Amino acid sequence: MADLFSSFQLKDVTLKNRIAIPPMCQYMAEDGLVNDWHKVHYASLARGGSGLVIVEATAVSPEGRITPNCLGIWNDAQTEQLREIAAAIKAAGAIPGIQIAHAGRKASANVPWEGDDHIAAGDSRAWQPIAPSAIAFGGDLPRVPSEMTVDDIKRVQGDFVAAALRAKEAGFEWLEMHFAHGYLAQSFTSTHSNHRTDEFGGSFQNRTRFTRETLAAVRNVWPDNLPLTARFGVLEFDGKDEETMSESIQLVKEWRQLGLDMLSVSVGFTIPDTNIPWGPAFMAPIAQRVRNEAQIPVSSAWGFGTPKLADQAIRNEQLDLAMIGRAHLENPNWPYHAAKVLGKKDPAWVLPPPYAHWLSRYKSPVAD
Ligand SMILES: Cc1cc2nc3c(=O)[nH]c(=O)nc-3n(C[C@H](O)[C@H](O)[C@H](O)COP(=O)(O)O)c2cc1C
Repeated sequence: MADLFSSFQLKDVTLKNRIAIPPMCQYMAEDGLVNDWHKVHYASLARGGSGLVIVEATAVSPEGRITPNCLGIWNDAQTEQLREIAAAIKAAGAIPGIQIAHAGRKASANVPWEGDDHIAAGDSRAWQPIAPSAIAFGGDLPRVPSEMTVDDIKRVQGDFVAAALRAKEAGFEWLEMHFAHGYLAQSFTSTHSNHRTDEFGGSFQNRTRFTRETLAAVRNVWPDNLPLTARFGVLEFDGKDEETMSESIQLVKEWRQLGLDMLSVSVGFTIPDTNIPWGPAFMAPIAQRVRNEAQIPVSSAWGFGTPKLADQAIRNEQLDLAMIGRAHLENPNWPYHAAKVLGKKDPAWVLPPPYAHWLSRYKSPVAD
């Protein structure tokens, strides 16, 4: 039976354990470029001992950034610096992953600690977001996006393909497409945000065309032997969840046929007013259903930061990988903490030797 510290193989990539760090935007970039913040942040996370570190939502184009301070992967300078991040993660013993993203109608926002809302129109830092339909998200993101033309759609799909090629060039070995959280791809699939009448809107097949085409085009350039994954909100908690879940499972089966290797099961966040039952590991049964019915390996986040919960979700075959986000911001050495709590033999050796040697040999002088 697999547990949190069992290895996990997907294609030619083997993770040393089932602990993964999900993408977490840092909102610290200028012009989409990596700087010292990102270098220290990702190296320290990777040294903490998880099997996989996925770099934050990295925009495929300037207009696809959530905020002016998001990372980007649309030019050579960005690619070169991302190479350093991938190498640092790898040197620390984790597999380097990256999430490529387009924010759609949620783009052009202030960073969270400066409001998390749309930048005021007329502010020189703002830009015009694009989306399947000219429908605003609402709440703190009231700006009405421009409806994409078919040329816009093709251009963005090309941006995803170029980003995948750059991710490969930069040395990433795990690619996650951001199809979740109400950003561009998720907003194509949802009737809340897609009112198009052409081949990209209306029926299930039409609303999901953008994701199928984009996924197929990316799979075409991303190496066959490396994992291609997607993060997707399989439900919204909007009162229509059974219908949305069965559509989502159908879609994931289609993506699997197109070469998707794993799904990161998440929430849609396509509309502001929903009734999400936040609680520890609340996504576990939902992820398990996707895993069983779509017959694909799954990961999930949201409240697995208690080691026993994460371990149980793996043991119960609800998840193949546990994504541990905020708990890693609190303690970058979370896998060591988990190893101690779960009674793993010689837990310090989850960490690299310069830490593990001392921690395993001498009891820490720090009192609890
Ligand atoms: C600071 C921060 C930034 C985030 N940025 C992203 C992101 O770039 N892409 C994404 O898919 N999810 C993002 N998320 C969601 C996390 O990946 C994760 O789902 C969430 O933190 C819940 O997991 P947790 O309970 O282990 O923290 C972010 C969350 C946080 C806290």
